[in-house]
Amino acid sequence: MSIDMRIVNTRTWTVLGVLTLSLLSSACSNYPSRETPIWVFPDMKKQDKVKFETSSSFFADGRGSRLPVAHTVAQETYHADVPYSTGIAADGTYVAKNPEAIDRELLLRGQAKFNVYCAPCHDRTGSGRGVVAAKSGWIPGNLHDERIVNYVDGELFHVVTAGRRSMPSYRFQLAEKDRWAIVAFVRVLQRSWLGKADEVPVESQGRLR
Ligand code: HEC
Repeated sequence: MSIDMRIVNTRTWTVLGVLTLSLLSSACSNYPSRETPIWVFPDMKKQDKVKFETSSSFFADGRGSRLPVAHTVAQETYHADVPYSTGIAADGTYVAKNPEAIDRELLLRGQAKFNVYCAPCHDRTGSGRGVVAAKSGWIPGNLHDERIVNYVDGELFHVVTAGRRSMPSYRFQLAEKDRWAIVAFVRVLQRSWLGKADEVPVESQGRLR
């Protein structure tokens, strides 16, 4: 009986010892340490790679980073048509008129995109009292202000593209054509806001309160 106990004890201690050691040496041990951890199974956590601005013996010039091919233009900075993609014409003034053909399809697209990307702050009517504005102290412009109504199309486009003061840029979220569609739809909102009662077709005037 006493001999059996000793065997159990020895086994138990061995197992416990191995467990403790493997825990301590594994990467999941909870001891913060500046030492490089011992990787028993490195899997894909550790791989050879070239870091920025380091040297490399692989290339003849000894640099790790490669220079772009001469005359390369980054996709994000390439604009085949600068006025179309920035709203600013070659002479530095804002493009006067929306270059897209204004039809029902474009306006519906502008409305859909406006409701997703602009309405949270500017409200679906463009008043500037969207949910974000209501819940924060942030005051988006009222798109019906005379100052903004008087902007040419290119300036509206430019605000969406580059942002202005606290208004963020939306060029990465919205394709160029969608930004022009939004500009066209903002014009619809402004027109409806500034409309007079007697401009409503006679047969619909009765529905006005
Ligand atoms: C995250 C909130 C937010 C969203 C979303 C947003 N705006 Fe704005 N916008 C603002 C704020 C804030 C201002 C006021 C900027 C200022 O005057 O500092 C502003 C101002 C403007 C102005 C007036 C700029 C001027 O010259 O005073 C226009 C035009 C405008 N936004 C259009 C849009 C359009 C179109 C969209 C959708 C693509 C949009 N905004 C989405 C917050 C937003």
